[in-house]
Amino acid sequence: MTGFVTLFEMGPRDGLQNEKRMIATGDKIRLVDMLTDCGFVKIEVTSFVSPQWVPQMADAAEVLAGIRRKPSVHYTALTPNVKGYTAARNAHADEVAVFGSASEGFSKKNINCSIAESLERFRPLLDKALDDGIPVRGYVSCVTDCPYDGPTPPESVAHVAAELIAMGCYEVSLGDTIGAGTPESIGRMLDAVLAKVPAHRLAGHYHDTRGNALANIEVSLEKGLRTFDAAVGGLGGCPYAPGAKGNVATEAVARLLAERGYETGLDLEKLAEAAAFARSLREEA
Ligand code: HMG
Ligand code: MG
Repeated sequence: MTGFVTLFEMGPRDGLQNEKRMIATGDKIRLVDMLTDCGFVKIEVTSFVSPQWVPQMADAAEVLAGIRRKPSVHYTALTPNVKGYTAARNAHADEVAVFGSASEGFSKKNINCSIAESLERFRPLLDKALDDGIPVRGYVSCVTDCPYDGPTPPESVAHVAAELIAMGCYEVSLGDTIGAGTPESIGRMLDAVLAKVPAHRLAGHYHDTRGNALANIEVSLEKGLRTFDAAVGGLGGCPYAPGAKGNVATEAVARLLAERGYETGLDLEKLAEAAAFARSLREEA
């Protein structure tokens, strides 16, 4: 064995947020419950964002109230501001995440503010969460390419990642939001980020739009990363990133890691069942 890799399951949030058809709250709860039985330590359940911006996540509190909780699992939620954080805490999210961008164009389209404004908006959220003992994760989107601004300078990613760590995020997840990254561009980006943030505080979040995500995970493993975000059934996309199709499929990442000798703690049969259910939610759309 080469060690343990944590897979952070994104299906219920990143996987479903872009579905046009409103998915029944009961189906979202069933998906989370199936994922709970797969052996994940972290499941991103939902987002406390504006329902005008992302209608699919409007039932965030109902989903968190309805799931069967296993004490060893952290059930997490996206929170763009203090309003979202307060709602997430009241709904008993175990962990929350702020989400910024390394490119100005995506920051404006996704959260309606500049990168600098977003960091100022996250600060009071972090202060409250850390006071409440709730861990906060940070995302940086568009780490190699932006659908609005083109290629992203690696130094911009390093800057935002280091700021998120400095304000108290326990980990930063590096998002190839539109899946345009290649092992070369992901490798260059990681070299810049690793000069400021150690590998054990980074995660790879690679969308698989062009089929590069597994190769991007391999180069990230070589550079020392041991946490990756993925969504069962390869569900996913971001409503504010045209072309952001699926997250990399959790079952494909789990298979790759097993082949390479890494432990994930996941039950691959149960994962296949959850992936089939997740795909059925999309196929019904
Ligand atoms: P805004 O319009 O600038 O916000 O949106 P505002 O503060 O001016 O408020 C406008 C209205 O929204 C007000 O309501 C607020 O109360 C309400 P009104 O007075 O008009 O009735 N509001 C909220 N309602 C519920 N929950 C909240 C909240 N905040 C304000 N938390 C805002 C700014 C950030 C809210 C908006 O842009 C937004 O919700 N954006 C979220 C977009 C999103 O969820 N995108 C997908 C997730 S990110 C992603 O997928 C990338 C990732 O996977 C990594 C990767 O792949 O790269 C993480
Ligand atoms: Mg994403």
